[in-house]
Amino acid sequence: MTHNTAMKKPEELRSHRWFGRETMRSFNHRSRMAQLGLGEEDYRGKPVIAILNTWSEINPCHLHFRQRAEEIKRGVWQAGGFPLEMPAMSLAEIFMKPSPLMYRNLLAMEAEELLRSYPVDGAVLMGGCDKTTPGLVMGAISMGLPFIFMPAGPMLRGNAGGATLGSGTDMFKGWQQLRAGEIDAGQWDDIMSGIARSPGTCMTMGTAATMMSAVEALGLSLPGASSIPAPDSRHAQMATATGKRIVEMVWEDVTPAKILTNDAFDNAVTCVLAMGGSTNALVHLIAMARRAGCSLDLDRFDALARTTPLIANIRPAGKYLMEDFYYAGGLRALLERIRGKLRTQALTVNGRTLGENIEGARVFNDDVILPLDKPVMREGSLAVLRGNLAPDGAVIKPAAAEARLHKHRGKAVVFDSYEALSKGIDDPALDIDADSVLVLQNAGPLGGPGMPEWGQLPIPKKLLQKGVRDMVRISDARMSGTSFGACVLHVAPESFIGGPLALVKTGDMIELDIPARRLQLLVGDEELERRRKSWKAPPPRYTRGYGAIFAQHVTQANEGCDFAILARRDAVPEPDIY
Ligand code: FES
Repeated sequence: MTHNTAMKKPEELRSHRWFGRETMRSFNHRSRMAQLGLGEEDYRGKPVIAILNTWSEINPCHLHFRQRAEEIKRGVWQAGGFPLEMPAMSLAEIFMKPSPLMYRNLLAMEAEELLRSYPVDGAVLMGGCDKTTPGLVMGAISMGLPFIFMPAGPMLRGNAGGATLGSGTDMFKGWQQLRAGEIDAGQWDDIMSGIARSPGTCMTMGTAATMMSAVEALGLSLPGASSIPAPDSRHAQMATATGKRIVEMVWEDVTPAKILTNDAFDNAVTCVLAMGGSTNALVHLIAMARRAGCSLDLDRFDALARTTPLIANIRPAGKYLMEDFYYAGGLRALLERIRGKLRTQALTVNGRTLGENIEGARVFNDDVILPLDKPVMREGSLAVLRGNLAPDGAVIKPAAAEARLHKHRGKAVVFDSYEALSKGIDDPALDIDADSVLVLQNAGPLGGPGMPEWGQLPIPKKLLQKGVRDMVRISDARMSGTSFGACVLHVAPESFIGGPLALVKTGDMIELDIPARRLQLLVGDEELERRRKSWKAPPPRYTRGYGAIFAQHVTQANEGCDFAILARRDAVPEPDIY
């Protein structure tokens, strides 16, 4: 590569401080590189690219990452860089308990500190399974080095019994059918073996597809990268292209500060809304924006939701899956279709603007990516609610809820823990009907802890058998993007710290009014004050270890659940090398 004056010089590389000086310590570093089998010509004066790989034997969504890391390395070598693969904590959404969100901030810290403490000039972040995407990106934003996010990509469509199956969505449906006696144990087993049949992330519009798409729309992945199914050979080609480009980005000094603006975050939110994305996006994008010093909040989400049509016909709000979305043209085609809603001048990792990257992208199937005049919803695929039950906000996905419940009043049936709910929900004596409002307390950032994805509270068996498939449910938990139903989520402040949700009692009337964005507990102020005075804080979940650190620093859902100490924008000094 030739260097023009705008480009970095080899001695300006961050890694030069480790390898390029004529000091004893620099000699020591070079001798240990020799121990690794490397000659100085392999790395000296070259951009050192950390490949943060969240591969793990327990993470089926990242099963292909060992191979993809090799493909990224090939690209880095070809472009004249030096790749270093570094394992980072894998947050396997399905297996981590009590909630992978609790560990998102730990991954963010790990990513940031790996990049800071080692001789790194730029990074490729390998993630995709739900919280790995925001975790890696949050850490890399705070470190501030050039980086590209390489998305894992969705798995292939599920298949069993002649039906196409979507991750999560069709499991939840199947579970309801099993409990209602509509399918038998053999059919349930068939769903188990066929619903997840290749490497890659959930292929419904879950948090994984939502966040991979949002990060591409933010400008942090190569154009089109997020839609490619994980096993597709074009995914491997994208990995190599990512490796090549990150080397150029280091020379060009394309840092996240140059990409991440309020406009870029508006693009990410608009993308999420047009795709019918997961409610988890509110938590993650707000956390990412705060790391970047941008001003995204719940009100901005709601304002954009009122003008953005939902045009991706993907489960759970629609019919198809991410594999179909890719064949229909993928994210570039969707963004081109909503070009008028985007800030097209926003810069992206390939050095071009978002507008240039989507120019001319075509939709190949109008039933998957719908025309603007035939959307799934004209506006409001996500809605932010407020009221005396959620003074700091709550969220609902109207697109995934039965329309008759968008305005609803009903009597509360309250459970103060998930354990109590799972024991009591199918009790034939439970006083509940289709108009009741199910309430779960103590499932928020501190109460869960980590806001587990419990928000799609189960409908009682006796109502399922009567054909009820949706009812209003309220909690301070989150919900998987693959779930559906009239579920009010992320109620803030949470009940565990005495938020108004803690004061609800069985029999209280609750009003949900999505068009008016209102969530109201219809109990008088005096009575609420009386309850508030007699409320007692539960004991902390953890008194030692990471759980205690988490409880000490985590913020509420409307603030992104980041650690306040990590969201700060103070400069962190480069490490001394003596
Ligand atoms: Fe990994 Fe859904 S479990 S993306």
